[in-house]
Amino acid sequence: MARQRYPTLLGALLSLLGVSGVHGAPKPRQSNEGIDPKLLSGPEDVAEEYDYIVVGGGTAGLTVADRLSEDGDHTVLVIELGAYDNSSSVTTIAGGAGGLSNRTHLFSFPSSPQEGLNNRTTAVIGGVMLGGSSGVNGLQVHRGHKDDYNRWGAFFSDESEWSWDGLLPYFKKAWNFHPPNEDTAEALGIKYDASYWGDTSGVHASFPTFNWPGLKIEIEAFGDIEGVELPEDSGEGSPGVYWYPTSADPVTATRSMSRNGHFDGIDRDNYKVLSEHRVLRVLFDEEDMASGVAYVPRGAVDDSEVRSVKARKEVIIAAGTIHTPQILQGSGIGAADLLEAAGIEVVVDLPGVGWNLQDHPLGGGASFELTDFPVSPQPSDLQSNASFREAAQQEFKESRSGPLTIASGNAACFLPLAVIAPSTFESIASRYESQDPAAYLPADSPPTIVAGYAAQQKAMAAAMRSRGTAHYNLFLRGGGTEGAIVYLHPVSRGTVRLDPSDPYFSEPEVDYRALSNPADLEVEVEFVKFTRRYFTETRMADYGAVEARPGGAVRTDEEMAAYARANVSPSTFHPVGTAAMLPRELGGVVDEGLRVYGVKRLSVVDASVMPDLPGAYTQHTTFAIAEKAADLIKARA
Ligand SMILES: Cc1cc2nc3c(=O)[nH]c(=O)nc-3n(C[C@H](O)[C@H](O)[C@H](O)COP(=O)(O)OP(=O)(O)OC[C@H]3O[C@@H](n4cnc5c(N)ncnc54)[C@H](O)[C@@H]3O)c2cc1C
Ligand SMILES: *[C@@H]1O[C@H](CO)[C@@H](O)[C@H](O)[C@H]1NC(C)=O
Ligand SMILES: *[C@@H]1O[C@H](CO)[C@@H](O)[C@H](O)[C@H]1NC(C)=O
Ligand SMILES: *[C@@H]1O[C@H](CO)[C@@H](O)[C@H](O)[C@H]1NC(C)=O
Ligand SMILES: *[C@@H]1O[C@H](CO)[C@@H](O)[C@H](O)[C@H]1NC(C)=O
Repeated sequence: MARQRYPTLLGALLSLLGVSGVHGAPKPRQSNEGIDPKLLSGPEDVAEEYDYIVVGGGTAGLTVADRLSEDGDHTVLVIELGAYDNSSSVTTIAGGAGGLSNRTHLFSFPSSPQEGLNNRTTAVIGGVMLGGSSGVNGLQVHRGHKDDYNRWGAFFSDESEWSWDGLLPYFKKAWNFHPPNEDTAEALGIKYDASYWGDTSGVHASFPTFNWPGLKIEIEAFGDIEGVELPEDSGEGSPGVYWYPTSADPVTATRSMSRNGHFDGIDRDNYKVLSEHRVLRVLFDEEDMASGVAYVPRGAVDDSEVRSVKARKEVIIAAGTIHTPQILQGSGIGAADLLEAAGIEVVVDLPGVGWNLQDHPLGGGASFELTDFPVSPQPSDLQSNASFREAAQQEFKESRSGPLTIASGNAACFLPLAVIAPSTFESIASRYESQDPAAYLPADSPPTIVAGYAAQQKAMAAAMRSRGTAHYNLFLRGGGTEGAIVYLHPVSRGTVRLDPSDPYFSEPEVDYRALSNPADLEVEVEFVKFTRRYFTETRMADYGAVEARPGGAVRTDEEMAAYARANVSPSTFHPVGTAAMLPRELGGVVDEGLRVYGVKRLSVVDASVMPDLPGAYTQHTTFAIAEKAADLIKARA
């Protein structure tokens, strides 16, 4: 039987990305009766006032809500657009594509046409449910590298606690780590060092009980490339090739997410959630103090059912990178010209809101089919070998173990540009560094935005030269067709802007501006070359690697660049940066305390505050930021 062309998750990603999704029809309200006493049955149960209102019960939102309410004293209300759902479409981990193959809990709408990608449009996607994107994601758990977090603090000062050292306690607090079983670790050479992890969180990071033997060979083959490191643990903050865990409970082998770690089973009167309601805007008193929020039922198309609720201490926004800027702009915080065009009264002229959008471009490089890989079993056996599949299903049913405990993968390389492109990285960095910082930003970028990009440009040029920053990510499957490549540190910057003709009830305009900076195209060209090198010039060459994409006809740099423009997707669903934690004069939206500039008692705690992407997928970092945010907010209570 023919091998599957793409891995399960990648297949789901590519099929989604090829299509422009449309905003799903409003779902009928479900009854929250009997689910959990913290879940309100409707707005009639909402009190007049709470200490804290959290907007969005996603990854960061529920983490913060749990921590702020754990003293049993401070009252917290979370308002979440999506529903509570613990059915198997959410909890099943096998393949890691659950949330993508069933779109019930996704928003999905078309991006602006991407000029850098031949004007293609792709679907903007994220989770809409109690648990947010942690309920639909691919379950890979990895944090970025020391450089990534030190770079954030350096935008403020050398003393900033937004640094690797400052975040490490929160990386540990965020996850309850379970090491791999000894047999699997021994057989596959899985290394780990539990000292980089904690064991107190209700959110679990664990290893599947089984993994594909081909991974060992694929990892070892990286040793044939000069400069590739093999760190002891994914959590140590160093680029290289390593194993990492899955966000799953090891006992039940089901998805672990913010909802089951920070909501389910918590018995607390001062913690409430209103699901299936959308926050439209933050309300302010005459001193520009956030005093509450206005919200409507999920399916509302106008203001007719609007209600409001007051916050005594703080309004905390955690609606995710795509919707947090929409809510801020809709509340009068954003670029004055945009707000005026939408007829919204300006509370603070803060042009950084919605600027600085970044995501990991996906699908560049090359892919290869290993036609003579002498290991068994391989991932494709789950599709093509009925007796293997049945045995796997039986094993899972009986003991929650075996191949169906693998989500979307547990091993990958995270490699510096200097390692994948040793002869060109310096010239790429120099050309990038000498650009006029305004040259590739939107033409109307305000001065603070340009100043902020100039600072980022310096930092990103240093990152291109550093062996402590990873640019290239290839996630490994253990056989079949390999080549899911993610670009970890793009330098193009996009925008999220509310729709001036319908600011509150229509999705915002999302323009990733992917590959708008020519440096990103140069890096993508190197990705093609390096991927070919890995499959044909290391011991991988022994396994009949046949190039599937882009194919032998693509040879020159120009052809590789054209291939990237025609094939790269702007998103791996890891958007960050639209409410960036940066100094205000550098286009920042929040300060180091995550407070929004220019108003009082309003903070942002989700992935949108990251000033630039970590060299990793974003859930681990988002959970760590939320844990730190809770401590910052408590300290000013
Ligand atoms: C398909 C997919 C696969 C991914 N795979 C991985 C992976 O394997 N590994 C990894 O590390 N990361 C992965 N990620 C990324 C990671 O899950 C996210 O970066 C992270 O969960 C974002 O957390 P957040 O708190 O910023 O936003 P979210 O968790 O998305 O939470 C935002 C919440 O706000 C709600 N909301 C939005 N607007 C409103 C409003 N107006 N009123 C009320 N509520 C509102 C939403 O419904 C949502 O629940 C993936 C993401 C997706 C979507
Ligand atoms: C959610 O479903 C999982 C898997 O079926 C189960 O183990 C867990 O107890 C459920 N949680 C709740 C709160 O019902
Ligand atoms: C998708 O998920 C929803 C909600 O969990 C569920 O009701 C539905 O049956 C699922 N659809 C499929 C095809 O699995
Ligand atoms: C993309 O669209 C823009 C604006 O309409 C146009 O100027 C440009 O030529 C188009 N590019 C391609 C490659 O089609
Ligand atoms: C199918 O799986 C079974 C059970 O794991 C194995 O014994 C057999 O060799 C496999 N068949 C093929 C053709 O790979």
